[in-house]
Amino acid sequence: MIKKIGVLTSGGDAPGMNAAIRAVTRTAIQNGLEVYGIHDGYLGMYEGRIERLYRKSVSEKMGHGGTFLGTARLNEFTEREVRVAAIANLEQYGIDALVCIGGDGTYQGALALSQMGVPCVCLPGTIDNDIAGTDFTIGFDTALNTVVEAVDKLRDTSNSHRRCSIIEVMGRNCGDLAVWTAIAVGAEVCIAKETGFDLGDILENVSKAAQSKRHAIIIVAENMVKIEELAMQVTLNTPFEARATVLGHVQRGGSPSARDRVLASEMGVKSIEALLNGDTHHCICYRQGKIVSMPIEEALGDDTQQVLDKFAVFKVLW
Ligand code: F6P
Repeated sequence: MIKKIGVLTSGGDAPGMNAAIRAVTRTAIQNGLEVYGIHDGYLGMYEGRIERLYRKSVSEKMGHGGTFLGTARLNEFTEREVRVAAIANLEQYGIDALVCIGGDGTYQGALALSQMGVPCVCLPGTIDNDIAGTDFTIGFDTALNTVVEAVDKLRDTSNSHRRCSIIEVMGRNCGDLAVWTAIAVGAEVCIAKETGFDLGDILENVSKAAQSKRHAIIIVAENMVKIEELAMQVTLNTPFEARATVLGHVQRGGSPSARDRVLASEMGVKSIEALLNGDTHHCICYRQGKIVSMPIEEALGDDTQQVLDKFAVFKVLW
């Protein structure tokens, strides 16, 4: 029977992680469990940096960006000896189950731990929206709003100067943030891994925009093209002079949106229900309006179709 749980955040931080920790902590305490916060994700688990959390420990954290437990990326967690040492630290505190909040890498770590006998439930905390099993990850909505606000500002200056703004957004290998942004700002071009791109088509679309507007917007998912080089191509081959902007880590910061706070809270509650129901080695997903739990392996499938469906909307509306 589970009596003590650990909670950690791992990988890139995401707005809403604090709301998730709060919901996990309070739901667990209400169910008679002891809760331990593990600092800096799997790194703190390996180094034994663990502290007891109380109801009050999670007060007034809801509206803060980032994660108050800290986070880290620990590539060495793929090594069995590192996990064995980390599990020994959990045993010292009598922690018999974990809630792991993060993205793909966090899920892989939890899967490996669960295969070694540690019951784990994962929550999707990442701005990338790249966990296939869930329609939305915690942090995506806030990041999307941050990006849209930034692009709206870039449009103002672009429009004043008759320019093309080329904006690179995060997402790792997933084009969701790029495609959702492109729809939300009415971009001329969207470049994402799932859709591919053709330089000739891009230059043609931008030139077409120049016939009726004072600016054009190109949204580019990271790891796709060198945006400075693309800016050069646009400047040389279209009526617009182009400027390139990499939005970078500003996309991960800021107070979580109401939507992310509610999603994180609902998912946090569900994670404890899942642990207590014995649905361990599971993760919590939002699917068609419902919060559900499913095996971790099932949630890590291919996300391409979801991005392509949104891209189809973008193409119709351009
Ligand atoms: O996974 C979240 C994310 O922000 C990705 O979008 C991005 O590729 C990566 O993390 C950046 O990682 P880091 O903060 O380690 O530079």
